[in-house]
Amino acid sequence: MTEPNGGPGDGTGPGVQPYYARNATALADRYESLRFETVHQDILTLLPPAPARIADIGAGTGRDAAALAARGHTVLAVEPVPELRADAQRRHPSPAIHWLADALPALPRLDGETGRLDAILLSAVWMHLEEPARPPAMRRLHALLAPGGRLFLTLRHGPPPPDRTMYDIPAHETVALAVRHGLRPLRHSHGADHLGRDDIHWSTLSFEKDRP
Ligand SMILES: C[S@@+](CC[C@H](N)C(=O)[O-])C[C@H]1O[C@@H](n2cnc3c(N)ncnc32)[C@H](O)[C@@H]1O
Repeated sequence: MTEPNGGPGDGTGPGVQPYYARNATALADRYESLRFETVHQDILTLLPPAPARIADIGAGTGRDAAALAARGHTVLAVEPVPELRADAQRRHPSPAIHWLADALPALPRLDGETGRLDAILLSAVWMHLEEPARPPAMRRLHALLAPGGRLFLTLRHGPPPPDRTMYDIPAHETVALAVRHGLRPLRHSHGADHLGRDDIHWSTLSFEKDRP
């Protein structure tokens, strides 16, 4: 199986995957110091009832995938960086989590899931997509959702770090893109950084795919 490569054209941007690969151990401790219920408190009441089929795209070390699995869901945890996937599988060996090496915007390994997913989570991932990758990524996410399926997306705001490709993408731009692709906004909230960084804040956006 070929690993998706980071770089221009596949949406991961130059330097994204090398950064996550090089720093996997330190990042793992940081991500796992947070609780799903704290980071994602704004979406808890919008999650589909269990058992649902949920994709966690850019799943990192699996904190959210594991929490969703513990809530009774089947989780497709998609993570392009092998070092993070390996760490995640060691930490969270749940049989309800299926790990996949894949990346936005194309997500070719999710072809079999088209129109089947009850929810998709992108936690701190969308900010890595360069502008040309965002419309095809949104189109793909919409296609993967079942009618009535929900998309949850968190967006990082503040100065992008110099050591990896990252964009401060305005929430209104992402909402407009989602609406153009057939997703109805459900909730939009704004909050402080859970790691206590003063110059960083987050938007949480929730959408629903229309039923025919
Ligand atoms: C800041 S981390 C967030 C990890 C996890 N979702 C969390 O909230 O703890 C960003 C993650 O997005 C992944 N990523 C970056 N570009 C991606 C892309 N184009 N498609 C899928 N995942 C991507 C990275 O490998 C990394 O695991």
